[in-house]
Order: sequence, then C-alpha cells, then structure tokens
Amino acid sequence: MGDAVHCELCDDTGWVLESRNGVEFVRPCQCAERRRRARLLEEANIPDRYRHCTFGSFELWNPDDPTLSKARRVTREFVDLYPDVEKGLLLMGPVGTGKTHLAVAVLRELIEGKGVRGRFADFTSLVLEIQMTFGGGGSSRAIVEPLIRAEVLVLDELGAGKVTPWVMDLLYYLVNSRYLEGRTTIFTTNFTDFPRSPQEESLEDRVSSRIRSRLYEMCRRVELRGEDFRRHRLADVRERPKP
Ligand SMILES: Nc1ncnc2c1ncn2[C@@H]1O[C@H](COP(=O)(O)OP(=O)(O)OP(=O)(O)O)[C@@H](O)[C@H]1O
Ligand SMILES: [Mg+2]
Ligand SMILES: [Zn+2]
Repeated sequence: MGDAVHCELCDDTGWVLESRNGVEFVRPCQCAERRRRARLLEEANIPDRYRHCTFGSFELWNPDDPTLSKARRVTREFVDLYPDVEKGLLLMGPVGTGKTHLAVAVLRELIEGKGVRGRFADFTSLVLEIQMTFGGGGSSRAIVEPLIRAEVLVLDELGAGKVTPWVMDLLYYLVNSRYLEGRTTIFTTNFTDFPRSPQEESLEDRVSSRIRSRLYEMCRRVELRGEDFRRHRLADVRERPKP
C-alpha cells in the first residue's frame, strides 16, 4: 500500500495550522479524505487485471452494437446519481463483452469520486476461498461479513461455477442479506433470462427462482449483447483468421 502522494499543505502530518482573529488552531488537512479514498480503493480488492477499467478506457469499438453505448450511459448515470439510486445493476451478456470492465469502472468512480466503501468479489473465487477455510485455518464468516456490510458490492460472475446445494445456500445468504439491508449490489453474469436454445440454462436455472426474484427488485438490468472484445481486439494479430 503506502501513500505515494506527498501533501505540501500539511507535510503529511494530516493537520494544518490556521489562524483566525489572531487565534491559532489546527484542523484536519483536506488530504485526509484523499488518503481515505486511496485506502478504500486498496481495500476494495479489485483484481490487478481490472485496474485499467474505467469509463474513459471503455471504447464504443463496435458501431453495430447499440448495447455498448447504452450500457456505458446507464452505468455512468448510475454513478452520477448515487446514492440517489433505488436499485443496483445487473450486467448481463456473453463472454468478453465488457461487463466486468463496466462494473469495476462504476466501483472505482464511486470510491474515488464519492468516498464509498465498496468491495469487489468474484463469486467462484469466493466459493473456493471459503472452501479453503474448511478443516481449520481462517473463518468463512470473516470472508463473507465484509461483503455483506460493504456499502456497494460488485459480485462478478453470478451463476458461474459448480452449483452445489452448499454454494446455493451461500449465494442466497449473501444476496438475501444485502436485500434485507437494502444495500446496493452490482452483479455481472453470463446467463440470460431468455436463452436462445432449450439446452442453454437461464439465470434462474443457475441461481434458483428465489434469488432471481430478489434480483428483479434489487437491480436494474443492463444487457450487453455484442461480441467478444478479447477475441476481436485483444487477440494476437497473427492468430486472427484471414477475412
Ligand atoms: N468496450 C470495451 N472497451 C475497452 N476494453 C474493453 C471493452 N470491452 C471489454 N474490454 C476489455 O476486454 C477484456 C474483457 O472484458 P470483461 O472482462 O469486462 O468482459 P466480461 O463481459 O466481464 O467477460 P466474462 O463474461 O468472460 O467475464 C477486459 O480486459 C476489458 O477491459
Ligand atoms: Mg467478467
Ligand atoms: Zn495534507
């Protein structure tokens, strides 16, 4: 961690001397809030892989895909309005369409711009982390509680991974706790409400109807229908098929 930015106002003491009507007193320096936000950003647990994800770096790269600009607009508006928002967000769409990118952009802006205490968690990693506490070591409560209490939580990859009854109970506990407390949650998922083929599972199939039902109340749906950015823009040029 560490604070890279040096404050000239207070020489990093956190306090500045002021005088009013000949009386001198100290008050907290304005850099305190900046430091707090830098600390919050560290504590949010955004993976290094997604550090570059901001609204500025989100390109409307495919002019044929109107969902890109709509998703960026809706998520930006969400940040501008926060905390005056009734619901969180449910970012839905196929792989590589920018769901996690936008969710992280929202989280960052809320932390850096509004001082929100937010957290990022990837659902499949969360499950593994908790399973590793079984048979001694840490406590699963210590892992889950901060996610329940976070003012804003990004829960990435909803419905991914192996769904056992234990995993479903954990997800239900997490979602329902935040639901009961009326906290804002941003979910991303590869699953949709309307699968294109009968073999494909819907979000409700993956997370159960009691969770899907709560999500309707908790979140505004944002759909990304486009194509895989990784494949189109990040793949090695030599690997691209010739047109
Ligand atoms: N519109 C975009 N502009 C710039 N970078 C993008 C855009 N869409 C995706 N990316 C980048 O492509 C990579 C994949 O995007 P991201 O992880 O957000 O996809 P995803 O929809 O969450 O996919 P998955 O379902 O596999 O989790 C990331 O590095 C992201 O920053
Ligand atoms: Mg993702
Ligand atoms: Zn200062």
